[in-house]
Amino acid sequence: MFNLILFGPPGSGKGTQSDKLVEKYGLIHLSTGNLLREEIGHKTPLGIEAKKFMDKGQLVPDEVVIGMIDSSLEHHKGAKGFLFDGFPRTVAQAHALDKLLELKKTSIHSVLALEVNDEELIKRLLNRGKTSGRSDDTDEAVIRKRLAVYNNETAPVAEHYKKAKKFQAVKGQGTVDDIFCWLSEAIDKKLK
Ligand code: AP5
Repeated sequence: MFNLILFGPPGSGKGTQSDKLVEKYGLIHLSTGNLLREEIGHKTPLGIEAKKFMDKGQLVPDEVVIGMIDSSLEHHKGAKGFLFDGFPRTVAQAHALDKLLELKKTSIHSVLALEVNDEELIKRLLNRGKTSGRSDDTDEAVIRKRLAVYNNETAPVAEHYKKAKKFQAVKGQGTVDDIFCWLSEAIDKKLK
């Protein structure tokens, strides 16, 4: 099994690169953002509650996203591996993921972190907001809130994986194809 976390701030290209990586490496893509937006689309109680946090650029409570990841892991029992996108986003989520994977006799093999400066992130997200229909992409104040939440609550997750020697930064600015090559090189080294 090969389990990868694609880490990075909002707009760093996690979703874009995940689509290409899951195709190349045959992994199951687990994006908590996508799972939450599906719940919102179906107007489930979980989705209605989560939307209140997402619209403000805040994180959805840990227990909600950990529960979603637990069910998704159960749902894909025979998987070759998982690509986690947008999860874990707090240190508590990272500890919970360690435990869930341990129960399945596996672990995280690599954390690749896309590095993009704030100016480029804001530009990308405002640009996506013109067509995405994502309410959290249209207001620059909400985008800045998401970046602040990332710096305060999510960036510390990097330390957890640095201590475990699983963390690697990858340049996240350049063409989508160049970044995909750099990520693939890092993964291929791990798979050797
Ligand atoms: P989530 O859906 O995870 O959003 P995010 O982390 O804010 O990330 P984005 O999807 O906005 O960006 P991305 O890095 O995937 O970049 P993308 O490839 O799309 O989370 C949304 C919300 O859900 C959170 O705010 C929170 O409320 C909640 N949530 C989710 N997970 C949670 C968790 N674990 N715990 C608690 N709450 C959680 O690219 C962005 C744009 O840039 C696109 O338009 C793309 O075309 C463009 N682009 C990509 N690559 C390039 C490039 N190389 N050059 C130029 N443009 C590019």
